[in-house]
Amino acid sequence: MKRVAILISGGGSNMVRLVESMTGDHPARAVLVASNDPAAAGLAKARALNVATAAVDHRAFGSDRKAFDAALLQPILAAEPDILCLAGFMRILTPGFVRRFEGRMLNIHPSLLPKYPGLHTHQRALAAGDAEAGCTVHEVTAELDAGPILGQARVAVRPGDTAETLAARVLAMEHRLYPAVLRRFAEGDRTPVLLP
Ligand code: GRF
Repeated sequence: MKRVAILISGGGSNMVRLVESMTGDHPARAVLVASNDPAAAGLAKARALNVATAAVDHRAFGSDRKAFDAALLQPILAAEPDILCLAGFMRILTPGFVRRFEGRMLNIHPSLLPKYPGLHTHQRALAAGDAEAGCTVHEVTAELDAGPILGQARVAVRPGDTAETLAARVLAMEHRLYPAVLRRFAEGDRTPVLLP
């Protein structure tokens, strides 16, 4: 049984779908939900799902990213995860942290990578007049939003879309894509999941 730790920063809607997907004959189970924000609403949702939680407030470390990562690493190592899933995790991890989990750390990003790495992805897709948008699950490497792609889901951009309406449509696809990718990844299969 693969042990999965999930990192969040906010509401954790992707985390909830991942935890709920790991049941029955699924080869993985959630063993920890950790956040850089002790007030993250997702932590209460994780507790309600009977998953252990941890929080390390990144603000206590100022600009010392290495010290924050070292502190966050403690509860994660204690949970002995096989796989790390970043899900709405809004901190950039140091190369040292990434190296410890390279090849077994996933992230979901709300764009069709390699388009629009970084922030404000929906605004950028709308500004570019794209006909399609979507989300990508990729392996995390030291370069931001650039690792091998494990899955993508596409949505049509509709006339009158705002960043909010597009974000909501993409988020619904994230909730389908991430669990599908995690299951395949936990089974040792890196064939990309492409939706629809
Ligand atoms: C959402 O914008 C999603 O696109 C991205 O992280 C944000 C929060 O997601 N992956 P969640 O509800 O905390 O999973």
